[in-house]
Amino acid sequence: MKILVVGSGGREHSLCWAIAASPLCEKLWCAPGNAGIAQEAECVAIAADDIDGLVAFAGREAVDLVVVGPEQPLVMGLVDRLEEKGIKAFGPRAAAAELEGSKGFMKDICAKYDIPTAAYGRFTDIEKARAFIREQGAPIVIKADGLAAGKGVTVALTLDEALNAAEDALVEGQFGIAGAEIVIEEFMEGEEISIFALCDGRTALPLASAQDHKAAYDGDKGPNTGGMGAYSPAPAMTDALLAEVMKTIIQPTIDGMAAEGRPYKGVLFAGVMLTRDGVKLLEHNVRFGDPECQVLMMRLRSDLVAALVATVDGVLDRFDMRWYDDAALAVVLAAEGYPGSYEKGTEIKGVAAAGDADENVTIFHAGTKRDGDGPLLAVGGRVLNVTALGRTVAEAQSRAYEAVDRIDWAQGFCRRDIGWRAVAREGE
Ligand code: AMP
Ligand code: GLY
Repeated sequence: MKILVVGSGGREHSLCWAIAASPLCEKLWCAPGNAGIAQEAECVAIAADDIDGLVAFAGREAVDLVVVGPEQPLVMGLVDRLEEKGIKAFGPRAAAAELEGSKGFMKDICAKYDIPTAAYGRFTDIEKARAFIREQGAPIVIKADGLAAGKGVTVALTLDEALNAAEDALVEGQFGIAGAEIVIEEFMEGEEISIFALCDGRTALPLASAQDHKAAYDGDKGPNTGGMGAYSPAPAMTDALLAEVMKTIIQPTIDGMAAEGRPYKGVLFAGVMLTRDGVKLLEHNVRFGDPECQVLMMRLRSDLVAALVATVDGVLDRFDMRWYDDAALAVVLAAEGYPGSYEKGTEIKGVAAAGDADENVTIFHAGTKRDGDGPLLAVGGRVLNVTALGRTVAEAQSRAYEAVDRIDWAQGFCRRDIGWRAVAREGE
């Protein structure tokens, strides 16, 4: 098969790495890719949100399968456009990608199909939003309805914080059109877990469990990020819990979306909270998590391409996936200053040697660039994902940090405690 992966992060590097290893893959492109992806695929300079450019390229090159990494092109209708041209694509169509594209839509689906989630209201009018916030009290959560690059959520501990967040979105236009509507919801307390399932419109097939660390600094402190590290399996995800999430959240979502005439195909990534009154949905994402995908790809024993094709073809009821028992853990190296502003174009040394020194280590690139034989440059916030396998999360963790310490990048930083919860549980 001729395959095109869309995106440029560590998630897409790990997808390309797994796809390139498949005997089913004859030719692999990535648009736009990065310096690490260039070792697995031919990178083409088309942006992930250039829908016309991607569709034209896929048609011209007679691509057999397009695998879409990020949410933006899904919400913009890339899969619809490819399917109109008879090109297979992994990911939901725009009408189904609304699950991530509009938080209000997602909450309405939950309400209609009895999916447990936080109580909520949808608002475009600031006076009504203020009245609702005062009536509910703090803590309370304010969310921009649309895609806001992970920055649209405020967990407000005080009434003032909540009122300001509502005003920033609705009056000041902080998130542009994405914040022209907001969702205000009940604050939930508990441990967060991610669940990934391949979905073909009817059947949902859960993947191995994974958990990420969203806070920028050690001890889960500091500002929220896209994810500073991840590990799999997540010991908090027991078989009983997975069964409950599949029965009360994932399958009702798939059935509900089918009933709405918006069949959900692709990977569904549910963020859930383990609360005292049971598991509740925080959010649905319509793509793989980053860096959760990287640890899942390390543990995947089955052929990824076969799994993606089974999803697109609607035959997951006859499909099964196998995983290595080994644990995997990824440490994100980020540019000093991330998730705030950071320097671009700094040089990173020793990456290839750090990867070669241990066969259990794979280094996925996120924000990197290299011109010809020039130096490896950091060009993004999250830059490298140092990923390792081990018999336990603790072993994977120590291998990953040994590799991290071999990399020479003065302007980078990472958390030193990725996986701490799982390591503590293993020690019990
Ligand atoms: P979201 O993008 O909706 O997952 O929100 C980002 C983060 O905000 C989540 O990962 C949670 O840590 C937090 N969050 C979102 N909704 C709630 C809620 N209702 N209660 C408590 N925390 C929340
Ligand atoms: N790591 C969380 C996400 O991809 O949204």
